[in-house]
Parts: sequence; C-alpha cells; structure tokens
Amino acid sequence: MAEILIENISKSFGDHTVLKDLSLTVRDGECFTLIGPSGCGKTVLLRIMAGFETLDAGRMSIGSEVVADAQSGTALPPEQRSLGVVFQDYAVWPHMTVRQNVGYPLKIARRDPAEAAALVQKSIDDVNLTGMEDRLPSQLSGGQQQRVALARALVAQPSLLLLDEPLNNLDANLREEMRFEIKALQKNLGVTILYVTHDQEIALAISDRMALLDEQGAIRQVGTPEELFSAPADEFVFSFLGMSNFLRVQVQGGRASLEGCPFPLEPQAGFAGEVRVGFRPSDVELSRDGEGLRATVRRASFLGAFTDYQLDVCGQHVRTAVDTHEALARNLLLAEGDACVLNLRNAHWFS
Ligand SMILES: Nc1ncnc2c1ncn2[C@@H]1O[C@H](COP(=O)(O)OP(=O)(O)OP(=O)(O)O)[C@@H](O)[C@H]1O
Ligand SMILES: [Mg+2]
Repeated sequence: MAEILIENISKSFGDHTVLKDLSLTVRDGECFTLIGPSGCGKTVLLRIMAGFETLDAGRMSIGSEVVADAQSGTALPPEQRSLGVVFQDYAVWPHMTVRQNVGYPLKIARRDPAEAAALVQKSIDDVNLTGMEDRLPSQLSGGQQQRVALARALVAQPSLLLLDEPLNNLDANLREEMRFEIKALQKNLGVTILYVTHDQEIALAISDRMALLDEQGAIRQVGTPEELFSAPADEFVFSFLGMSNFLRVQVQGGRASLEGCPFPLEPQAGFAGEVRVGFRPSDVELSRDGEGLRATVRRASFLGAFTDYQLDVCGQHVRTAVDTHEALARNLLLAEGDACVLNLRNAHWFS
C-alpha cells in the first residue's frame, strides 16, 4: 500500500512561509500531479516527503506508516521510506556505467550481490534500456539518461515514486514519449506516482488526479484533469490550465452586455453587476456576419492547423484558434483590419 496522507503540514524558511496548513491524500496506485507556478513550494513538499527536509507542523504518512510528524518528532530517514525519487536536477554519475548507476542504491544498502544484480537487470528492462548496461552516460541520449535516473529510483522496488519535473531537459518529442512510458510503469509495476511540474500540458496528460497550488503554496483545486479543465474552481485555476481570454461584461436583470451590445451567452445564475467572462481561444466561433459581438482583426498568424486571430472586441483583446480547414471551407480566412462576428461555444463566469 502506498497511499500518501498529508495532514496540515507547514514549512517556513526563516520568516518565509512556503507551505501553510496543507492537506492532501494520494490514493494507492494513482498518478497524482502537483502543479503550480515556479516557487510555490512543489520541490519543498517532495523533499519533505522524501525525508530531506523537516516539517514545522503537521504529519505525513505513507501507507500505514507515519514517516514524519512534527508534534512527536518522528522523522524516518530517507532510506527507510520505501520510495524512489527523481529530482529536478537529476544527476546520473558520469563515470559510472548504466548498470553501476542503477545498482548504486543497492550497493549502499549492502544488498546481496546476486539479488542486487537481478533487481538491477529488472529495473533496466522496465525502463527499456536493455542492451545498454555497459554504456557510460556520455554514450546515451538525454532521454536515455533520464531512464537511467528512473531505473535507479525504481531499483529497490519502492511502492512510491516521487518525480520532480523529470522531463524538463528533454525535447518535445522525447517528453511525449517519456510521458507514455511513465504511465506504462505506473500500470505495469502498480507503483504510486507523485509527479511535480509547472507544465499544465504534462499534468493534464499524465494525471489520474491533480492538485493546483497557487503562489502562496495553497491548494486551489483537487480533481481529475477533466474536472479542473471543465469546472475550474476559480479564475486562477482557469488561467493556469491553458491560454485564456477574459471579457468584462455587465450583468443586469439576468442579461449580459458588453459596452451596451448584447452578450452572446446567458449569464450563469448568481452573477450580477461587473463580471469577468473567461474562455479559451478554441471556444470562439467566428463568422463574417450574423448575430454576435462585432470584432475587428488586429493580427492574423497562420500556424498550420490553426490560425490565431487577435481581435479587438469593443476595445478588449481576444485571442482565437480557428481550425484552418474550417476557415477555408467557410470562407473565413481573415486579414488584418477585417470585420467579423464573435460567438462563444463555452465560457466560465467569474465575479
Ligand atoms: N533550503 C531553503 N532555504 C530557504 N528557502 C528555500 C529553501 N528551499 C526552498 N526555498 C524557497 O521556498 C520556495 C519554494 O521553493 P520550491 O523549490 O519548492 O519551488 P517550486 O515550486 O519547486 O518551483 P519550481 O517550479 O521553479 O521548481 C522558494 O521561494 C524557494 O526560494
Ligand atoms: Mg521545483
């Protein structure tokens, strides 16, 4: 069992409070992502969990074992926590072969050599590095080195894997490939994964559930990627999970308007007065004429599959992503200065 229970933990450095009264549960076998802006305390939380940093307050358990408790002073050393870690600034030792790198934690733990050799081989096979056992890191690609770090984290067969931005140093294609491989490891080994990143695309793609932290290290929302994306708890969550537009509108008597023009969507119940409407570029529906908000194209950028039109809507700025095939089919290739009409497929209302 590798359920993680984090109860009311706090951590400060001097007078700088990084984490305050944070509680979170990660279920056994799930891939859980912690996402949040740079400096919000993600690495600090992982370091506390791994046992490299102490708690000021609160308690943390892995499975049925309390690994850290500020009140009782419990703090299990890292090697007794049954977890594997790949940190942000992961390092594979350049002078050791793949086999030596992966086997290092077992050597330190003085495991029986024959048993260790079998575990090392299994771990190398699990991350698809079979055949590269005797290579040095300098003879491996960035993605392969990343796998060495993963294999080393997995070699002692932990029930919990902590990954801190492990794909940062990879190019986009490799990042995508490794994303799939991490999911495969989760499935094949049944390991619980706590994954930390500030990259919303990776978080949405890889998580069973995720938690979004704000700059103050407070949790804004916990849920599945679909829940956070389609039902954001607040404007911060909405803005963090992809490119976003906002229009300031007036709601009066159950109707919304923008600078006196009728707004194309009905206001969400409970909103009145000045309200902000948030929507994604892909939520915008453009046409040359008809009902909707009048807009003018300020800039048109052809991006292949999509065209990014930046619009002026009553003095407010809106970005769109119009499907190029659809634009061609509907005679909607617009130029700078062209007038058009904007409607919305979907929006979120924020007071
Ligand atoms: N040992 C330390 N002493 C003092 N301050 C620290 C220490 N470790 C971290 N901090 C501070 O705690 C805050 C949170 O740092 P942390 O490394 O957890 O951020 P992060 O969310 O991982 O950011 P990033 O996405 O950039 O990796 C930062 O302001 C950082 O400067
Ligand atoms: Mg970090």
